[in-house]
Order: sequence, then structure tokens, then C-alpha cells
Amino acid sequence: MKKIALSLALSAIVLAPITSIAQQSQDELVQESHQIIQKFAKGLKGELMAAMKKGGPVNAINVCKDKAMDLTDAAGKDNGVTLSRTSLKIRNPKNAPQAWEKAILEQFEARKSKGESPKKMEFSEIVDVDGKKQFRYMKAMGIGKPCLNCHGEKALPAVEVTLSKLYPDDKARGYNLGDIRGAIVLIKDL
Ligand code: HEC
Repeated sequence: MKKIALSLALSAIVLAPITSIAQQSQDELVQESHQIIQKFAKGLKGELMAAMKKGGPVNAINVCKDKAMDLTDAAGKDNGVTLSRTSLKIRNPKNAPQAWEKAILEQFEARKSKGESPKKMEFSEIVDVDGKKQFRYMKAMGIGKPCLNCHGEKALPAVEVTLSKLYPDDKARGYNLGDIRGAIVLIKDL
């Protein structure tokens, strides 16, 4: 009897992590998204701030241009998810939102105009895509002071020149402090 109880207890211990991975609740998936995105955003911001300090905003444009997309892809792959950045007013056409992402970005704007701060604004859902379950998460990104250098109303002349050369169809300008610049999107196939 004791033996059976013990082996049952043991198998519960062994099986527990497996079941919890298989049945990660939406809450757990959101928690996981927070961790992945926090780490990613810190890394990207670190690169950006270091480049600004070293060579000013013109130099830092290249970090955003060359590294942002790679860092985003790599952070997704490292964590078994897909990460991306998007916005209603994009700079790089490769970051254009999917239809569902656009709808959520519009909801974020509506929530903001009702007084909600973009700081903790987020969205999550579990959907069926071609018969497979998919977790989708979006976190709003607000405009802070450093962002104004390259996304604000007025940039340094050298920044203006570089940006218009690299992104002739740039829409990501004219933001003010506290605006929603866009969102980080995390997708996980379940
Ligand atoms: C030094 C200039 C610079 C600064 C400062 C900067 N960005 Fe950007 N940002 C860029 C460039 C360049 C791109 C295009 C990146 C690419 O080609 O992938 C970009 C793209 C983005 C995108 C992707 C969507 C799009 O429009 O293509 C988001 C979101 C974004 N920036 C948010 C921010 C936020 C939030 C801040 C402040 C924390 C910030 N940026 C600060 C230059 C900058």
C-alpha cells in the first residue's frame, strides 16, 4: 500500500511540470509574456541608450535600423515564441500591423482617450488558427523622453536628414510624451 502511495506521489511530482506546460493557463502565459518582453525591452533600450551616449541620435538610428529587428527575432526564438514590434504609424514597412494587431492598437487608442495610461496597457487572447490554438499578447509602448529624438515633432537636422534618407515613407513622427507609439506583439503556438 505504502509503495503504491509513494509511486503515485512520485509520478505526480514527475508529471506535474509536464501537465503544467501542456495546460498553461492564459494567466500563466501573460506572466511569461511579461518576463520575456521585460527582458527584451531592457536589452533593446540598453543598446539604444548606449549608442546615443556614444555617438548621439544619428548614430543610434543605425542601431534601431540594424539591430532592432534582429534583437526582436532573436528574443522570440530564444523563448519559443514570435516577437515583433508594430504601430498604427510605422517607420519600417516590415513592421506593418496584421489586421488583428491593427484592431487592438485602435482599442489601445480608445482606452487611452478614456484616461487609461499606456504604461500597463495590454491585451491577450487565445484563438483558433487553422484548427490550432494560438496565444496572442500585445503590450502598449508609450513615448518617453528619449523616443522624442527620433519620433517627436522636431528632430535635430542631421536626424531628419538620416531618417528621410533611410525611411522615405516614414509615418512614425510627430509624437508627444505619453502617446502610444505602438506595441510589442508576442505570439505563441499552443
Ligand atoms: C535614435 C533614433 C530612435 C530613437 C531614440 C527611438 N527610435 Fe524607435 N525607431 C527608430 C528607427 C530607425 C526605427 C525603424 C527600425 C527598423 O527599421 O526596424 C524605429 C522603429 C520603432 C518601432 C517599430 C515600428 C515602426 O514604426 O517601424 C517602434 C515600436 C519604436 N521605434 C518605438 C520606439 C520607442 C518606444 C522609443 C523610445 C523608448 C524609440 N522608438 C526611440 C529610431 C529611433
